[in-house]
Amino acid sequence: MLSRRSFVGQAAGLGLALAGGRSLFAAVQGSAADATMTIYMSPTCGCCAKWVDHVKAAGFKTVVHEETGMDTVKESLGVPHDMRSCHTAQVDKYLIEGHVPAEDIRKLLAEKPKAAGLAAPGMPASSPGMAVPGEPHEPYDVLLFQRDGTSEVFAHR
Ligand code: CU
Ligand code: CU
Repeated sequence: MLSRRSFVGQAAGLGLALAGGRSLFAAVQGSAADATMTIYMSPTCGCCAKWVDHVKAAGFKTVVHEETGMDTVKESLGVPHDMRSCHTAQVDKYLIEGHVPAEDIRKLLAEKPKAAGLAAPGMPASSPGMAVPGEPHEPYDVLLFQRDGTSEVFAHR
């Protein structure tokens, strides 16, 4: 049985926990500190490993699964054909396909649009993990895509 006093004490404790949770949430908003990314990549993919370093440096926690059959992975996760690149990642409820800059992923997680995810189709030469220092910048687009393969430009890079 709960005495009135212990109930009041617990309610106060709960209130504190909620307030604490809210201020913690405010503190991590706009950062990637709380987001864990699950990444599927081929064990022999050098540019994939560099992209993993890029998102880690930006503050994302990562869990990497090395897969030899990336086509099968993309098929089962539902990555539309026109969006495909080398690696595929999942963060929150979104797919991240290819060399998408961490800044765009953070914006996606903050805005939470109705979409399947972000993609940098192919292997844009100037994207994170692909860019070679000293080489001139080659513009590319990061696309916000839907499950049916339709997409719109999310960021010009
Ligand atoms: Cu790549
Ligand atoms: Cu890759």
